[in-house]
Amino acid sequence: MNFTEKSHEAVAGIRGKIFYAVDATVGGGRDALFAASIMEPSGKLFCFDVQAEAIARSKKLIEENAPECACEFFHAGHEHMKELLPRQTHGRINCFFFNLGWLPGSDKKIATRAETTIEGLSAAFELADRNACVISVCCYKAHEGGMSEFRAVERFMEANFPDCKRYTDTLNDLSPELFIVKFGG
Ligand SMILES: C[S@@+](CC[C@H](N)C(=O)[O-])C[C@H]1O[C@@H](n2cnc3c(N)ncnc32)[C@H](O)[C@@H]1O
Repeated sequence: MNFTEKSHEAVAGIRGKIFYAVDATVGGGRDALFAASIMEPSGKLFCFDVQAEAIARSKKLIEENAPECACEFFHAGHEHMKELLPRQTHGRINCFFFNLGWLPGSDKKIATRAETTIEGLSAAFELADRNACVISVCCYKAHEGGMSEFRAVERFMEANFPDCKRYTDTLNDLSPELFIVKFGG
């Protein structure tokens, strides 16, 4: 299963309703570029990452491939999302990507962590537009800390959104696991 395609497909399901989008872990910028390609032209994209290298890579990718996209980058953890996103976007965000783990091709130790991921997800639930929003969370289990982060996300989802859709390879205990939460019709 291609988890990136699956998460893009879920977000594309609310095409036409995406005015504010957030990539909570912008990394190499692929999810951000996808969001830019399907957002409304008047929309705005907000991207977070703790690594300057990720911000630089993604900025370049967006500038080269979606120069028309209004995009703001925060060199900060997604756990600070609520303080950093403009007040007028609160309750009006239509899509969030949380593609967890580490930046491919860089230091695997700089990966997302259970505690800050749950803070970021809690903020996303508060900031989501309840009439139209998809929250995509892709967990990787095989690296150090990955399984405990996955378990924390699973507990969070079961407590807050038991009806969320889940995708994984059930034959492989270490397969990534994708959670898709959808608000609105
Ligand atoms: C798997 S990559 C993201 C891939 C990316 N969405 C893409 O399309 O290429 C995970 C990213 O999360 C970043 N990260 C780690 N901790 C973070 C945090 N607390 N807040 C935001 N980003 C974080 C890492 O630096 C890394 O770039």
